[in-house]
Amino acid sequence: MKTNETQNAIFHRTSIRQFEDRAVEPEKIEQILRAAMQAPTAGNQQSWEFYVVTNSDKLEQLSKTSPYAGCAANAPTAIVVAYKDGGIFPDYNDIDCAIAAEHIWLAADALGLGTVMLGIAPLQERMQAVEQVLEMPSDVHAFTIFPIGYPEKVNSQQNRYDESKVHFVK
Ligand SMILES: Cc1cc2nc3c(=O)[nH]c(=O)nc-3n(C[C@H](O)[C@H](O)[C@H](O)COP(=O)(O)O)c2cc1C
Repeated sequence: MKTNETQNAIFHRTSIRQFEDRAVEPEKIEQILRAAMQAPTAGNQQSWEFYVVTNSDKLEQLSKTSPYAGCAANAPTAIVVAYKDGGIFPDYNDIDCAIAAEHIWLAADALGLGTVMLGIAPLQERMQAVEQVLEMPSDVHAFTIFPIGYPEKVNSQQNRYDESKVHFVK
């Protein structure tokens, strides 16, 4: 993964919900996790935990943890981002995980893979469902699910630049 590929991923990335029936190489998963853990965190607390799921029963169960998580059942792999109690700035756990999540999404794209962020936190019901499926310890809290695989189809990304959202203050 080169720097320019990561930068291109910002404009190339889309949500991918359909995957080829093909496993993701462990080296690529490791690269994605390395990218995730390069993310900045409040006070450098790094309270995150990452669950890599390849078990098809567990993927099926994860797909039922929210009404919008169905695509996890068809993915060869999922990375679940979570955070652990005990960090120095716990109010920022969600924000830290969200930044790591974007790194995951961009790294997957840069590696020719596809994924989508499935909303779990802050909805308690969904968080508890994911925590139960993955048997997380009680001090670990599920944040989001990324089903990851080779995309069945890649759509081109919209141009979302909107000048009316920019406010120059001189
Ligand atoms: C916080 C967040 C939660 C999301 N939750 C879901 C979800 O539960 N299920 C889903 O299929 N897509 C989910 N998405 C994907 C969005 O629908 C998608 O990013 C958005 O429509 C823009 O499309 P794009 O990713 O292709 O640019 C989520 C995205 C974000 C950022």
